[in-house]
Amino acid sequence: MTTDRTPPPGAPLTGPVAVSVQEVRKRYGDRQAVDGISLDVQRGEFFGLLGPNGAGKTTLIEIVEGLRQADSGTVEVLGERPWPRNTALLPRIGVQTQASAFFVRQTAREHLATVAGLYRKDAAAADRTLETVALTEQRDVLVENLSGGQRQRLAIASALVHDPELIFLDEPTAALDPQARRDLWEVLRALKGEGRTIVYTTHHLDEAEALCDRVAILVAGRIAALDSPHRLVAAAGAPARLLVPAGRIGVAQAAALDGVDRVSEQGGSLVLETAAPGRVLQAVDALTGLDGVMTRTATLEDVYLELTGHHHGPDAGRTPAHTTESPA
Ligand SMILES: Nc1ncnc2c1ncn2[C@@H]1O[C@H](COP(=O)(O)OP(=O)(O)OP(=O)(O)O)[C@@H](O)[C@H]1O
Ligand SMILES: [Mg+2]
Repeated sequence: MTTDRTPPPGAPLTGPVAVSVQEVRKRYGDRQAVDGISLDVQRGEFFGLLGPNGAGKTTLIEIVEGLRQADSGTVEVLGERPWPRNTALLPRIGVQTQASAFFVRQTAREHLATVAGLYRKDAAAADRTLETVALTEQRDVLVENLSGGQRQRLAIASALVHDPELIFLDEPTAALDPQARRDLWEVLRALKGEGRTIVYTTHHLDEAEALCDRVAILVAGRIAALDSPHRLVAAAGAPARLLVPAGRIGVAQAAALDGVDRVSEQGGSLVLETAAPGRVLQAVDALTGLDGVMTRTATLEDVYLELTGHHHGPDAGRTPAHTTESPA
């Protein structure tokens, strides 16, 4: 794991830099919201900011966007300083803030056409972007009458309508239903495919794992980890879990198996934690066969929970919601 500007092994930061953040700090009263953060985002990169509520993600991203002033440190966005408010940057960046504002008494289409107009784009750009976020059907609905998720999609559309090369999205999928969330993933992947840079925050770790080239995990205003999801998971060395249907083998019997580090009971399964899943699978196979046995490998969520201190362990009866499951 890297917590500084050192390129992670195997993936040197070679390309041009889209965002450069150096030693940025921001304090509100006695709360140090951002406590010395340095990171680079490459052009074309999909970069995720993760971390618990209050970790400083929105503060950091809004400093980078030029919406807030840092107390200290330097920020460069596409080679420019975003603060004091840099109007040269505005056409080049797209911003969806966590608390989005809309023009009142306008329909979705009027709102987006107004935004497009601010960037000297025509109504056709607004219509295309409504289509992109699947709001064409709601185009004539007043913004205040859109559902929460539809309004969120309109906010995302407002960040995309002028074709920016660098896109900031602060929890874009927070209010989206599962299908809309997956649809947005495809939109974002397509934008990345066009070479655009995306910086975004999310609390959905499966999503970060599916989309991000690299993620920074923020804890209390500092970077606790920064790397690709894959390398973070690999470096954490979290145990694999084998789930054996309850009643097939006893707890003591499971604990005695070669390679098993820990056994617990969860939701109708006996959970065997191991660093040697192959060996344990063989042993379970010899005892009871593998029908119905599942393996769960570590995910970014495991790494995140470990780093952010909310990991209650398998005995707490909570299994990470997004573990990858595959039949043994
Ligand atoms: N304008 C403000 N005035 C005072 N304190 C603030 C302000 N904005 C943020 N904070 C505080 O700074 C800290 C970081 O907040 P921030 O919104 O950056 O967190 P976050 O990581 O985006 O959290 P979330 O996941 O809930 O969106 C929090 O303790 C918050 O209460
Ligand atoms: Mg936030």
